[in-house]
Amino acid sequence: MTDYYWDNQIDYLRNTRKLYYNDDYLEFLIKMVWKITNPINIIDFGCGYGFLGLKLLPMLPEGSTYTGVDKGEELLCQAKKIFNHTSLEANFIQGDIEEINIECKYGVAVCHAFLLHMTDARKIIQKMIDSVSDGGRVICFEPHWISNMASYYLDGIEQSQIVNLGVLQKLYEADSKRNGKDGNIGPRVPIMLSQLGLRDVECRVSDKVNIFDQNTEFEDKEALYSALKEEGLGQEPGEWNEVIERLMARGLSREEARTQYEAEESLSKNFKLNSGLTYTPGMKISYGVVRR
Ligand SMILES: C[S@@+](CC[C@H](N)C(=O)[O-])C[C@H]1O[C@@H](n2cnc3c(N)ncnc32)[C@H](O)[C@@H]1O
Repeated sequence: MTDYYWDNQIDYLRNTRKLYYNDDYLEFLIKMVWKITNPINIIDFGCGYGFLGLKLLPMLPEGSTYTGVDKGEELLCQAKKIFNHTSLEANFIQGDIEEINIECKYGVAVCHAFLLHMTDARKIIQKMIDSVSDGGRVICFEPHWISNMASYYLDGIEQSQIVNLGVLQKLYEADSKRNGKDGNIGPRVPIMLSQLGLRDVECRVSDKVNIFDQNTEFEDKEALYSALKEEGLGQEPGEWNEVIERLMARGLSREEARTQYEAEESLSKNFKLNSGLTYTPGMKISYGVVRR
């Protein structure tokens, strides 16, 4: 194992990606919205274990290829192993996207849950644009964590007991001011794509609503329960003093930190295997065409 954070998050990535899209919706985007009818070469910025390649390549015209770029050595090692068990054509570039040069030869540049981790997302989008030939597309799948959290519904519990949107907004805004990274970047992306000169910019929202209730099959239920927990729904907040100090260091008052702790604790105590819950991640899918 390496010390690189994301190299140790493979299980989290593999377990949670299934919460976001139904396959038929991705196919609809490829065929009906982006109208991709000829083979294309895709490059995936911050590809992780290659989630987007595994999803999109089988739906793309035969002859399409996938190149994943990521900093994580171990992640790419896993990605290669996974793709070796398929007939999909993929290759991987290991490196820091902020530093490496990427050739301008791709038909589509994509990223998934990546820009929110960048201190200068605009610079990275420009790099994505520069990697695509004239007429190609840039497509960014990014979250809006506030609207995602506003979607938590736990049957029998008032939402204000488990999610404090005002406090969460303040936390995200303070984090973003401090380090440039924006967990709510999703709805900003179409504006940045337009400002950077892309044409025909549009934005869609991911379709999947996860339903967890007494009628979910038991085996699916356990898998879904742990995926939701890994996604952050109902994780135990941790030791009181440490959490309060950490939240205050991120910009909350003691009172706000206490409220936030209590909300997290309430969700973790109330979300159980016999609960009824719906969760709608609402990933923002922004895209535009490159014209030179
Ligand atoms: C939330 S994960 C998303 C991974 C993948 N796109 C997915 O959705 O499964 C963020 C990814 O960005 C990668 N990453 C973060 N900063 C990077 C950088 N500067 N250069 C290359 N990859 C980076 C991480 O290694 C990680 O795989």
